[in-house]
Amino acid sequence: MMQNLSTQLEILFLKATKDAFGLEDPVEITQSTKESFGDYQCNSALKFAKNLGKNPRDVAKMMMDHIDDPNKLIEKMEIAGPGFINIQICHTFLEKDLEKILDDKRLGVPLPTRKEKIICEFSSPNIAKAMHVGHLRSTIIGDSLARLFEFLGHDVLRLNHVGDWGTQFGMLITYLKMYQPEVLNNKSDTHIEDLMQWYKDSKQKFDESPIFKKSAQEEVVKLQGGNLDSISAWTHICDISRRAFQEIYNLLDVHLNERGESFYNPYLKEVVDTFEKTGLVKIDNGAKCVFLEGFTNKEGDPLPLIIQKSDGGYNYATTDLAGFKFRVTHDKADRIIIVTDIGQSMHFKMVYAAALKAGLIDPAKTQFDHVPFGLVLSPEGTKFKTREGETVRLSELLDESILAAKKLLCDRDVENLEESAKILGIGAVKYADLSCNRIKDYTFSFERMLKFEGNTVAFILYAFVRIQSIKRKLTERPSLKKITLSHPTEFALALQIRRFGESLKSMEDELLPNRLTDYLYQLAEKFHSFFRDCRVEGSEEELSRLLLCDQTADIIEEGLSILGIKTLSKM
Ligand code: ARG
Repeated sequence: MMQNLSTQLEILFLKATKDAFGLEDPVEITQSTKESFGDYQCNSALKFAKNLGKNPRDVAKMMMDHIDDPNKLIEKMEIAGPGFINIQICHTFLEKDLEKILDDKRLGVPLPTRKEKIICEFSSPNIAKAMHVGHLRSTIIGDSLARLFEFLGHDVLRLNHVGDWGTQFGMLITYLKMYQPEVLNNKSDTHIEDLMQWYKDSKQKFDESPIFKKSAQEEVVKLQGGNLDSISAWTHICDISRRAFQEIYNLLDVHLNERGESFYNPYLKEVVDTFEKTGLVKIDNGAKCVFLEGFTNKEGDPLPLIIQKSDGGYNYATTDLAGFKFRVTHDKADRIIIVTDIGQSMHFKMVYAAALKAGLIDPAKTQFDHVPFGLVLSPEGTKFKTREGETVRLSELLDESILAAKKLLCDRDVENLEESAKILGIGAVKYADLSCNRIKDYTFSFERMLKFEGNTVAFILYAFVRIQSIKRKLTERPSLKKITLSHPTEFALALQIRRFGESLKSMEDELLPNRLTDYLYQLAEKFHSFFRDCRVEGSEEELSRLLLCDQTADIIEEGLSILGIKTLSKM
């Protein structure tokens, strides 16, 4: 199996510190912050020096003296500043190492040490409500994380935790039965917009009319009791929303398994019972509450996690607790990842703390990560709304991007304008989102995302397209897999190619897709510099350079595919 260069260096440095000091502490190798420093650096001497009570530069020197490098991976090492070690990779080593990955389907990316069952929960819109830009972010980010884990070789279960349960369905069903019975009967062609309007109307009736309110409450009981009529109405309502969601997923090419809130309904009572048995429940104003250490409100009073309301109903939190339990016991998840807006961070901190306390999840067996993201802002820096102040319809937003892409491409040489515009338009929306650090708020701008310069999808696709055109001109395919790196920009490109696995590792470690977009951006830049400085066709190194081009294109294609973005062969 191919190892990342950083891992190969780590192995050398681990052995050296053991031989020099008898230490078995982990050694950290990182990519150099500046190219002029070298290719990699090791900063561990500073930490070791502290523990050993020695001068860090002396420790660094000792480590370097003990490096045993039979494959000649390292060209040069140098101590810098207080005790950093700057490392340069040997050209001939890189040439041979690259030759090995040319036939590697994984493009040099190591397989995981253990195949894990990873649950990736994302998107999760709510029935009878609009799927908004927050859900779009969740969908795009979650899909790229799922694709990453799939590529790495894990067993991924993609879940859509749709908001399909709750008292609002009592209102909605009552309303439809009273005012729009034909919708429930003949499966008329109802659109999500109608449903959203009825949702608003039913809410108004609920607040105004005590009779309506009473029927709505009775309807909830009927629904929860499994009354066939109510279930059929509920299913019908869900289907209308589902169709609208599916349109968006089709446009985005995102696959999800729906397992909505209703799925956990049968397990809610059991969860509350578990909490009661462990003595964690306190009754507060009739509601069953769990109080957890370290959670207080603004006034410093303990903050309760309500797991059952005074009327006996269960909460959003109860469902998430049941979710943890089901995913641990039934799905046998090694890891659970939930992608939502940052506003839900506190909720997930509390729910996870409660789940730990009740033993619903064992942190030694199952890792949990809430993956939060910031708001979507308009180019003016305000909340993302239409001019009329309404929430932006996602399908319209995506169509607009496709249309803008079409305008850009219409006088260029493309294979199929419709298809290409879709790839560029959707790719631009995804790439713009993924290339920002997800924690930060993100400013949505068609103008910026569709630029051909800078950290954009078009810039990266352009490198890919360039390579396709080089390949079209050359009929002879290189049969001999031999790499020679003669020019500095050629070496820089080769090194970047070899770092694909490292970029995926850092996306994985931090669950940050922008680690991969940064990498691809640099790869495209390095390719453009190489292309400027090194002639491919007709040069002495033609075959080797063609192999570099090929490998660059393969990595761009695979990297973009992990981001959920397709490539174009012409542009
Ligand atoms: N439906 C929720 C919303 O629109 C998101 C669900 C997040 N997942 C969860 N397990 N609570 O905000």
